[in-house]
Amino acid sequence: LKHLLALNGLPKDILNYILDTASSFVSVSDREVKKVPLMRGKSVFNLFFENSTRTRTTFEIAAKRLSADVINLNIAASSTSKGETLLDTVDNLTAMSADMFVVRHDQSGAPFLIASHLNQHKLDHIHVVNAGDGRHAHPTQGLLDMYTIRHYKKDFTNLKVAIIGDILHSRVARSDIHAMKTLGVPEIRVIGPKTLLPSFMEDMGVRVFTNMDEGLKDVDVVIMLRVQNERINGALLPSTQEFFKNYGLTPERLALAKPDAIVMHPGPMNRGVEIDSAVADGKQAVILSQVTFGIAVRMAVMSILAGN
Ligand code: CP
Repeated sequence: LKHLLALNGLPKDILNYILDTASSFVSVSDREVKKVPLMRGKSVFNLFFENSTRTRTTFEIAAKRLSADVINLNIAASSTSKGETLLDTVDNLTAMSADMFVVRHDQSGAPFLIASHLNQHKLDHIHVVNAGDGRHAHPTQGLLDMYTIRHYKKDFTNLKVAIIGDILHSRVARSDIHAMKTLGVPEIRVIGPKTLLPSFMEDMGVRVFTNMDEGLKDVDVVIMLRVQNERINGALLPSTQEFFKNYGLTPERLALAKPDAIVMHPGPMNRGVEIDSAVADGKQAVILSQVTFGIAVRMAVMSILAGN
C-alpha cells in the first residue's frame, strides 16, 4: 500500500490487517495508545484545506505517537491565498523533505491529484492519505468506523446497519458502505429524504428507506450523519424542525432498533437536527469511542504506508 485514497477496491485481508494493526497499538484498557518509534525521523505534513476538529487532531496525535515530526500547514495563513497552486504547494513542501501528506480538501479528487503528481515525478517514498475529499471519500473515518463496529459487535457477518441522514453529500457514507461490503455486512440500509439520497445507492447493494421508523427496525448499528448545509443548494435545504421531525434520532425511535444497538456519528453533531441529546449522551452512543479509536487506526494507516 503506497497511498490511502479510498476504501473501494481494498481487499478484505488488507482492511483486516489495518484493523488488527490498530488493535496492536491499543492497550488492554482500550483507551491508552502506546508511543512507538516506527516513524522516527519522518515528516508528516497535515494539509487541511477544509476545517476539521477530530481528523486533523487525531492524525497529529497519531503521527506523534509514531515518533514522526508533524507539520500542520496553516492554510489560511499560507501562500495559497496569494494564488499558489495545490501542486506548487506540494512541490515546495516536498523540497522540505516531506515523507507523508495528510490531505483534506473540499474538492473531490484533490488527494488523488497529489498522489498522481508524486507518482509521475517518481517520488515513490512520499505517501498520501486522504483525510476527506469533497463528498467522495473519507477512508480513515471508514476504517475507524469498522474498528468501532468490530469492537462492539465482534462479527460483521450477522449485522444490520443503518446509515441515516444526508447520504448525498456524505463521503463517510460512501467509505463506510465500501468497507462494510468488503467485510461481509449482509444488510446495509440508508435512510433519508429523497432529496438527500443519491440515485446510485441501490447499485451499491444497499436497501434504501425514506421512512425512518421502517428503516430502523431491528438494526444492530445506527450511523447518524450531519446535514451538510455548506454543500447544499439553498433551495434543497430542509428546515431544521422538519428534518428533526422526520429523521432525528430520538430515544423513542432508537427503541425500534435492537435493544443492544450502538449509535455512531462521525461528528460534528448537530444536536436537535439529526440527533437528540438524550441519544447522543445516552448509554448506546459510542461516538466518543470512535474518536479515541481514530488515533490507533490512523497510527496503523501511517505506519503501514511508511513501510512497517
Ligand atoms: N469526522 C470528521 O471528519 O470530523 P472532523 O471534520 O472534525 O475532522
